[in-house]
Amino acid sequence: MPKITNVCCIGAGYVGGPTMAVIAYKCPHIQVNVVDISERIVKAWNSDVLPIYEPGLDDIVKKVRGKNLTFSTAIEQGIKDADVIFVCVNTPTKVHGIGQGFASNLTNLEKAARTIARVATAPKIVVEKSTVPVQTADAIRRILLAHNKDAKKSDFQVLSNPEFLAEGTAIKDLLSPSRVLIGSEQTPAGIEAAEALVEVYANFVPKKQIITTNLWSSELSKLVANAFLAQRISSINSISALCEKTKANVYEVANAIGSDPRIGSRFLQASVGFGGSCFQKDILNLVYLCKSFGLPEVAEYWAQVVKMNDYQKDRFARNMVKTMFNTVTGKKIALFGFAFKKDTGDTRETAAVYISKSLLDERAVVAVHDPKVTEEKLWEELKYTVGIDKDSFDNLEKYISISTDPYKTAADSHAIAILTEWDSFKELDYQRLFDSMKKPAFLFDGRNLVDHEKLRKIGFQVYAIGKTFKDSLAPMESK
Ligand code: NAD
Ligand code: UGA
Repeated sequence: MPKITNVCCIGAGYVGGPTMAVIAYKCPHIQVNVVDISERIVKAWNSDVLPIYEPGLDDIVKKVRGKNLTFSTAIEQGIKDADVIFVCVNTPTKVHGIGQGFASNLTNLEKAARTIARVATAPKIVVEKSTVPVQTADAIRRILLAHNKDAKKSDFQVLSNPEFLAEGTAIKDLLSPSRVLIGSEQTPAGIEAAEALVEVYANFVPKKQIITTNLWSSELSKLVANAFLAQRISSINSISALCEKTKANVYEVANAIGSDPRIGSRFLQASVGFGGSCFQKDILNLVYLCKSFGLPEVAEYWAQVVKMNDYQKDRFARNMVKTMFNTVTGKKIALFGFAFKKDTGDTRETAAVYISKSLLDERAVVAVHDPKVTEEKLWEELKYTVGIDKDSFDNLEKYISISTDPYKTAADSHAIAILTEWDSFKELDYQRLFDSMKKPAFLFDGRNLVDHEKLRKIGFQVYAIGKTFKDSLAPMESK
């Protein structure tokens, strides 16, 4: 079995950076070189302000950077030196061409494979860490072999090793994963390569939690895992709409059904809608795959999970407008939270950007407060996700702004909408916020985060997802 002493990771993003930092930390005998085409990202990884925020990440990077962990743009050297090359590049949804809006764009992955093929001189194990459509490993292997005419099939082994970390808990998830999944070709060379990778993880993960399968099961399991998780959120969100009509309370329903161990309690938190770079992308990819393999009914089943998520975001925004007397034009609305979940500065596909768009379309004045999201990220997300930028929207800067000060954000506003479940939002002085707002002061809780009774006593008109609106009004108003 090949012994792994040098690892290269192509792609220093949300997955590549933290994953390799943890491997370097837990395997001091392995040299880990993370490479990326982006000089900006590499520079940030080598600085005191890392390019991503993850609890616990700074500490680990500080411990190993410069020892057995490096970040650089020296892609070719990294490949040459490595026994194993992790490919951890982004695989977003295609925005043009065949499969537009559904299929994964594999351009970055193919470019990385072609670079490996061109540069590699000795046998290599190539590990697909990016999330990919099932059977992508076959394409990678064919590229590797096509460039190396003298190579034997066994000189290049492609493994699938999808990543299951969630942002905000990445370090915890990497240090003690529920499982590590490794797929390989079921040949002696393929199985041997998988065993070599098992030994790397076995430095910090119990072997019984390392699952080995064939390549296609591993690739497909990643898409299916995300589809199942997202499906639970869409299921409970669909029920939240029914709860609002029937005076049932969705959190009580979630608790009641989640107590059955066959259902389980996690991922039943009704919300303004799931966000993040992967759930929607991976389900759309699954839908595309099903259609491509002639399974339209299966495709339609999974497409519904994304449709329900779109419905929930739209429903929340409509409710806001309807509740505020059917108009928000010219009204200042404070959005608390722009990250797609707490403990990350990531805004990709965040529900908040869709709510912002709906409010901007009504010409509300949107003031955002988020502890970690930068102004640059706000503009980027508005432009690339919902197509709003300074060229398409007159005086955009007058209509939307971002601040790290919640009190400044809420002052003179007609409403606060909680869109991210940041812990800090629970600790705010809501009396102070209320006093500074226009009256009636509305609070729309998209995360069931705060104490609604307490807020109603202060005087807020509270709307919470999955609770009957009349019941959530201040006592006077609900009569
Ligand atoms: P990301 O956009 O944060 O990072 C990708 C990095 O790859 C970027 O820094 C980019 O510059 C670099 N890159 C692209 N093409 C390159 C090339 N040819 N050579 C060198 N570098 C290149 O993406 P991410 O969030 O880390 O996701 C990476 C993959 O992991 C995706 O397939 C995603 O679906 C999957 N994934 C993501 C998460 C998550 O929480 N973000 C979790 C599990 C799996
Ligand atoms: C998700 C999966 O949880 C990871 O296992 C997977 O590796 C990753 O996608 C990926 O492939 O990228 P992530 O998107 O980082 O991780 O975060 P989650 O905790 O799954 O949350 C996703 C979204 O669902 C967030 O917007 C969150 O607020 C929302 N959510 C989550 C709910 O609305 N309700 C819940 O009960 C749980």
